[in-house]
Amino acid sequence: MKTKVFDNLNDLNKDFSLWLKKILAEKEDLSIALSGGNTPRSLFKYLATNHADDIDWSKIKFFWSDERCVWPDNDDSNYKMAKENLFDLVPVSNKNIFRIRGENDPYKEARSYEDLLQNELEVINGTPQFDVVMLGMGEDGHTASIFPHEMNLWESSNMCVVATHPKTRQMRISLSGKTINAAKHVAFLVTGAPKAKKVKEIIEDNKNAQEKYPAAKVQPSSGSLTWFLDKYAGRELSKEK
Ligand code: 6PG
Repeated sequence: MKTKVFDNLNDLNKDFSLWLKKILAEKEDLSIALSGGNTPRSLFKYLATNHADDIDWSKIKFFWSDERCVWPDNDDSNYKMAKENLFDLVPVSNKNIFRIRGENDPYKEARSYEDLLQNELEVINGTPQFDVVMLGMGEDGHTASIFPHEMNLWESSNMCVVATHPKTRQMRISLSGKTINAAKHVAFLVTGAPKAKKVKEIIEDNKNAQEKYPAAKVQPSSGSLTWFLDKYAGRELSKEK
């Protein structure tokens, strides 16, 4: 595991972009699961502004780690957020965009997305393998759309699960733990002081944190887990880390 702490969001976005470009340079094509939230939004804007021309976008296949169960033109849609901040601004072909259909019946859609992942990705020991899974973390320690009150979904034998937001009760479709942990590379993008305590617990006391927070269970079997933090999210970490 690697922990990187940056002075500001721009430096974080810059480093993540270089990290992604390095992985891309070693591959013919690359599959990435995107997440929702404000930190990814800022990354997408950064990529569109700074790397529209020097990334071969045709090599990348886009998927999602989670989606809210809404129509794709709804402001809550993670697809809509990525479309407006990235896909509309860089040369990405629609055939490389594999969105979760939040407008469909969630249980049927979870099964359809599993079929899609099995067709599009390499399947290792029964689980589709992403090259990169990009994740955020909520203040409650959730990741993708697996929240602390539904820890059991992390352990699901399915590749995708149907989840519920604890406050709004909004339904979500999310990758399960086994799909996330099967990825070749997993990156957490986490910013903001309100998340600092959980970041510390998860990184420095992982075993106990695993009892409480889905984000602590992100432990890819490849061993490639990188935390991209801003100085606020990383401010409680022990100095020697
Ligand atoms: C979503 C997510 C979710 C998100 C975190 C962090 O669709 O809401 O994928 O897991 O990444 O809540 O979001 P922020 O970057 O906005 O804090």
